[in-house]
Amino acid sequence: MTFPGARPRRLRRTPALRRLVADVRVSPADLVLPVFVKEGLAEPAPIGSMPGVVQHTRDSLKKAVHEAAAAGVGGVVLFGIPAVKDGRGSGADDPSGIVQLALRDLVAEVGDALVVMSDLCLDEYTDHGHCGLLTATGEVDNDSTLERYASIALAQARAGSQVIAPSGMMDGQVAAIRAALDSQGFSELPILSYSTKYASAFYGPFRDAAECAPQFGDRSAYQQDGARSADEGVREALLDIAEGADAVMVKPALAYLDVLRAVAQAVDVPVAAYQVSGEYAMVEAAAAQGWIDRERIIAEQLVAIRRAGASMILTYWATEAAGWLD
Ligand code: PBG
Repeated sequence: MTFPGARPRRLRRTPALRRLVADVRVSPADLVLPVFVKEGLAEPAPIGSMPGVVQHTRDSLKKAVHEAAAAGVGGVVLFGIPAVKDGRGSGADDPSGIVQLALRDLVAEVGDALVVMSDLCLDEYTDHGHCGLLTATGEVDNDSTLERYASIALAQARAGSQVIAPSGMMDGQVAAIRAALDSQGFSELPILSYSTKYASAFYGPFRDAAECAPQFGDRSAYQQDGARSADEGVREALLDIAEGADAVMVKPALAYLDVLRAVAQAVDVPVAAYQVSGEYAMVEAAAAQGWIDRERIIAEQLVAIRRAGASMILTYWATEAAGWLD
């Protein structure tokens, strides 16, 4: 007997057919590689909870970013780990602080081959590990932190950063950074805001990578609560755009694809998604056991993130995945 109805299977029969009709493609140019550089390192230092990812020296960082550029990766986002931390995160806006030095290195070496972005936050630089300045009672103080962020943005801009990416989830951070940049001649420098960022256990391994685990409490008082509806994620993105963000971000990725979808539909600026350290670590751990097909899982997740609406994806697999994507 022949089934006479529609046959969606017809277009799935061969790899060539599937390739022809695919709607979602992930290109190397859509990927952004997060990289860590640590002050005072003699050799790259492996990160135990992120196999394959290291804290770089200035030299090994240059090499890694060259490789990313050669693979066609669209950008890198730089995180710095200073040798000394203090209450106000002084290393973050020191003109000779590690991020500023590394930014100068990268822009000189590869600045036109891909986009050199800088993460802007305080948690890597403060001895208490929070993303802002503390009040006497140990709360993160929104408004005094904004002054620090403005100063850090200027230090990064002067060092040649090509996109400023604030990740601290202070209210008004984009407006404060935009005003500072504009007042000092950097009105052309874009801001990619981590607008829609959830308080998440998926950041666990990053806190080893950036040595920034909070010394008390957690970040739930400033990062978003996953139990709110996706509308709040959209609201955060719209607020940041109104303050001058040129692009926004949803983070983490896989557990927040509904939010990513809602944000992508609501805004008309590029939307980034950050496939974070815990997402990376889970796949690497299961693959090391032989329990999953590592490459297929990575590719499937990247496609899912694009399908949900991301125009770019921050991923620790950027260089490797760029090698298999077309
Ligand atoms: C904050 C920041 C974090 C990440 C990126 N920027 C950590 C946090 O908010 O606790 C996490 C990224 C990842 O987990 O891969 N500076």
